[in-house]
Amino acid sequence: MITSIGLDIVETARIKDDLERFGPRFSDRILGPDEKVLFDRRQDKPLFLAGRFAAKEAVVKALGKYLTVRPPLQELQIVNDQTGRPELKLPDSVRESLDGARCFISISHERNYAAAVAIFEDPA
Ligand SMILES: CC(C)(COP(=O)(O)OP(=O)(O)OC[C@H]1O[C@@H](n2cnc3c(N)ncnc32)[C@H](O)[C@@H]1OP(=O)(O)O)[C@@H](O)C(=O)NCCC(=O)NCCS
Repeated sequence: MITSIGLDIVETARIKDDLERFGPRFSDRILGPDEKVLFDRRQDKPLFLAGRFAAKEAVVKALGKYLTVRPPLQELQIVNDQTGRPELKLPDSVRESLDGARCFISISHERNYAAAVAIFEDPA
């Protein structure tokens, strides 16, 4: 059963400005270690970061069903499977609060905006 949904949209220019101004200090506040590996390989860094930021904010909104304290964004890692599909990777401390619920994420980015949706489903 679907229990929770979150949606977020991010203006890419804002992320690009912050990335130019603050460099890794900015991206390190958003990305976890597995995501930094992906980020380093990407040509479209502001777009990638905007997509990850939107997805993490969408996850935070949906996580409100399960948590009262917002985890740091770096702990909500979104990696891609072999086909490119985004998957949420959580620390044990957060996963334990989910009672087996699974999260499904979709990300889209174009020149000016990135958007993402996150949906949690409880086990049947
Ligand atoms: C996914 C796809 C539609 C991307 O579309 P796009 O308009 O070029 O780009 P968007 O900005 O909207 O989406 C990019 C995001 O899609 C997501 N994505 C990539 N491959 C995906 C897949 N197989 N399934 C779900 N989501 C995928 C990723 O999160 C990606 O962003 P990221 O690399 O920064 O994490 C395109 O890569 C594609 O068609 N992939 C193959 C999907 C497929 O063959 N599915 C099976 C048949 S339906």
